[in-house]
Amino acid sequence: MAAWNVHQPPRTDGTTVLVTGGNAGIGYFVAEQLAAAGATVVIGSRSPAKASAAVQAITARIPGAQVQYVPLDLADLDSLEASVGRMDTDALDAVVLNAGIALDGPQRATNDRGHELMLATNHLGHFALVHRLAPLLQAAPAARIVTMGSFAARSERLDLEDLHSVHEYDPKRTYGRSKLAQMMFAFALDRRLRAAGDTCMSVIAHPGGALDALTPPRPGVHRHSGHRHLLARPAKLLVQGKDAGAWPAVRAVLDPDVRGGQLWGPSRFGLSGRPHLEHPHAHMTDEASAEALWTASAELTGADPFVTGRATGSRQDA
Ligand SMILES: NC(=O)c1ccc[n+]([C@@H]2O[C@H](COP(=O)([O-])OP(=O)(O)OC[C@H]3O[C@@H](n4cnc5c(N)ncnc54)[C@H](OP(=O)(O)O)[C@@H]3O)[C@@H](O)[C@H]2O)c1
Repeated sequence: MAAWNVHQPPRTDGTTVLVTGGNAGIGYFVAEQLAAAGATVVIGSRSPAKASAAVQAITARIPGAQVQYVPLDLADLDSLEASVGRMDTDALDAVVLNAGIALDGPQRATNDRGHELMLATNHLGHFALVHRLAPLLQAAPAARIVTMGSFAARSERLDLEDLHSVHEYDPKRTYGRSKLAQMMFAFALDRRLRAAGDTCMSVIAHPGGALDALTPPRPGVHRHSGHRHLLARPAKLLVQGKDAGAWPAVRAVLDPDVRGGQLWGPSRFGLSGRPHLEHPHAHMTDEASAEALWTASAELTGADPFVTGRATGSRQDA
């Protein structure tokens, strides 16, 4: 595999990439780095004000950057069709499924459908979004669906009988399970795409440990607190900023040598450093559990991203 320069990835002029949660954190830096490489970047965000600040920050840093915004609330399944309908493109070369929440309070939260909120946002929202995006992705010559996983998924196992964590709610465990669900879906999606001979591929990336306090400032998007930065300096031995946390996903979008079904993460103990290829844990690629999760996700969302390899999103259905 050719050497990879995180500061100078290959140009990707003429392509269009959607980044969910591109208004903040790792997603912002994915958007910034892809825009710097020449992509037209569409920031999917539930906040017009934050999205506008992100667009401004990117265009101020990168002369000529092409950055757009679509309203996107992954926790609101009924809104996704309209969000995709507002995308000003006929084809989508990649989507980075980055947006996510990690709740830490003791109280379990749900969306308007009664779905546990971390599962709803991190997994079910992205599952349904891929369904809606399928026609745009299939209109590109070889689109990539890049899922942002987490090391939190390593130690968790799905409870298919209790996907919504109704019993003994523990926010850390529920977050880890929602990230595992995303990763299992992404591996399963790639298996289905390849079985169907589809040119679209699904790749998994994870950022390692990425702290705001180690992240460089971006006006209007991320403020630099000197105090917090100083306190966090010792952590730099193990973890990194969100700018570096973006590198594996950016490589998963841009590296011509990346293949579907691969897992990319930071090279130093999977926590920091340059992106490298990882070997997924067996439970992440377990086919029987992934199929059961897929069936449950399709029932819960009323969506099914690819059936026998054919896009079933709204535009093609219409
Ligand atoms: N940071 C880490 O160390 C770490 C480690 C492993 C994995 N990850 C994963 O990396 C991804 C990004 O994490 P981060 O640290 O950058 O988090 P972050 O700074 O909290 O940013 C999360 C992004 O997701 C958006 N978002 C949340 N709920 C949404 C919804 N319902 N609809 C649309 N967008 C929504 C947020 O929008 P708002 O600004 O409107 O809230 C924000 O743009 C997540 O998937 C996370 O699980 C992070």
